[in-house]
Amino acid sequence: MTKLRAAITAIQGYVPDFVLTNEILETMVDTSDEWITTRTGIKERRIQKGEGLATSDMAVEAVKGLLIKSGTKPEEVDLMICATVTPDMVYPATANIICDKAGIKNAFSYDLNAACSGFIYALVTGSQFIETGKYKKVIVVGADKMSSIVDYTDRQTCVIFGDGCGAVLLEPTTEETGIMDSILLSDGSGRIHLHQKAGGSLRPSSHETIDNKEHYIYQEGQAVFKFAVTRMADTAVEIMEKNNLKSEDIAWLVPHQANLRIIDATGKRMGLPREKVMINIQKFGNTTNGTIPLCLWEWENQLKKGDNIIIAAFGGGFTWGAIYLKWAYNSWQLL
Ligand code: ACO
Repeated sequence: MTKLRAAITAIQGYVPDFVLTNEILETMVDTSDEWITTRTGIKERRIQKGEGLATSDMAVEAVKGLLIKSGTKPEEVDLMICATVTPDMVYPATANIICDKAGIKNAFSYDLNAACSGFIYALVTGSQFIETGKYKKVIVVGADKMSSIVDYTDRQTCVIFGDGCGAVLLEPTTEETGIMDSILLSDGSGRIHLHQKAGGSLRPSSHETIDNKEHYIYQEGQAVFKFAVTRMADTAVEIMEKNNLKSEDIAWLVPHQANLRIIDATGKRMGLPREKVMINIQKFGNTTNGTIPLCLWEWENQLKKGDNIIIAAFGGGFTWGAIYLKWAYNSWQLL
């Protein structure tokens, strides 16, 4: 029997309009453009402003654009997975809300939380429904309103994160394209270094948790850096070796955009020149689940059918992994 693979057949991103520059941050906390640029590579990030707006409102912009671009009717969507750490509410799932706002009625939908690795976890999860033949159209969203959990008086974290999202459509193909292989891993003992202390069942919200600022991101930057820089590079190299790919066979590395130094270290370990690495951290910062689809969206016009792409991510949990993807279309096919 011919093997079915899950191919990305369209991609759409969305970032809010407001630009929070390093210069603005200099007026908010004791930091400098020079420190932020040399330590992280970030120059600016986007922030969702406005009352009553949430992660789903960004995601629905990307999803609606994706449906139009791919000529997909909302009722044709079988499944939507939303990877996020900033759901609109604890429940229901943000994916349910996105479907409602985008007019998607016949799909089942759920959220997936793997911090910054969420999008690759969701991509692999969604691809299983395609590969088994169960579904024909699966949307995978990576979306985060990080500004909703950032303490803008904490210089260690407020300079890093931004808001944004992307969505991809997965469809079956019998060609040798699509998701070819993946390695996904986790180590929950890493949670001590990166977490949100309150708001869950361990420590429900209270006046005390709010006074203690426990609803914001807690990150021990250096400890996370050490794990991220080795795990992301190790897994990217492992998936290359597993699939007999040499550096010259790789068209693009799509790394999670957490820190330019981590991105550079991963590219170097893979033997790739900078030109083959998608980098937009300078414009958007770390949008958590948004980083990888935002890169693919921005580079879409440069991607060619058959391009070998390695996607690599590391995030809270700890979670990490890599995907080997063979790009399935030339962008002009969508025009
Ligand atoms: N401006 C100026 N100085 C600062 C700032 C700032 N914004 N932030 C920290 N500093 C100071 C510190 O106080 C410290 O000062 P000290 O030496 O006097 O104590 C000094 O700068 C060095 O601080 P470090 O934390 O050691 O800086 P580092 O080089 O490690 O950079 C960073 C910090 C950018 C957070 C880095 O550690 C990093 O990128 N870590 C990994 C992040 C990551 O990959 N996260 C995973 C994904 S996120 C997710 O899953 C939600």
